[in-house]
Amino acid sequence: MTVLPIVTVGDPVLRERAAEVSPEELPSLQELIDDLIETRRAAGGAGLAAPQVGVSKRIAVVEVDAATRYSYKPLVPLTVIVNPVVEHASSEMLLINEGCLSLPDLRGDVPRHLRLTVRHLDRRGQPQVATLEGLTAGTFQHEIDHLDGMLLVDRADPRSFSTWEQFERHHREAFLQRVAGFVR
Ligand code: NI
Repeated sequence: MTVLPIVTVGDPVLRERAAEVSPEELPSLQELIDDLIETRRAAGGAGLAAPQVGVSKRIAVVEVDAATRYSYKPLVPLTVIVNPVVEHASSEMLLINEGCLSLPDLRGDVPRHLRLTVRHLDRRGQPQVATLEGLTAGTFQHEIDHLDGMLLVDRADPRSFSTWEQFERHHREAFLQRVAGFVR
């Protein structure tokens, strides 16, 4: 496994719609998936999408462990999502303060569907259904956005932007109160 360099905002690969993965090509993408897992763990994000390492394929990993830089997020076991399709999204929304490994030192408030059902393939090509809510549903929406060339800055009110330091200083407490019930 290799820790890959993470592409930052401005690289056109982050703005493309990533390509569907065919079942036939999945075996040749296993090393990429391992590298995505390793790179996410090294960077401490909650997830990582293939375009963020310069590969325009519809593959992302989500994993929240004790070492992520989001100490309040509920733990999520390693989940590899290939060709995700949002099957159901609640009309009820939750405003989630997010960061992104491709947007260094920036955070912003993004409206996300509170509940979400996602159909996807796992790394072996087996169909899976994930039912998600709260901050975890937000994490999945963030990663799926990457596969559609979307970044959190497209959905956030720019007036909510902050650095990580200013989030800790001025916004963390109010945010955690707002999303109480969806944090660990
Ligand atoms: Ni991101």
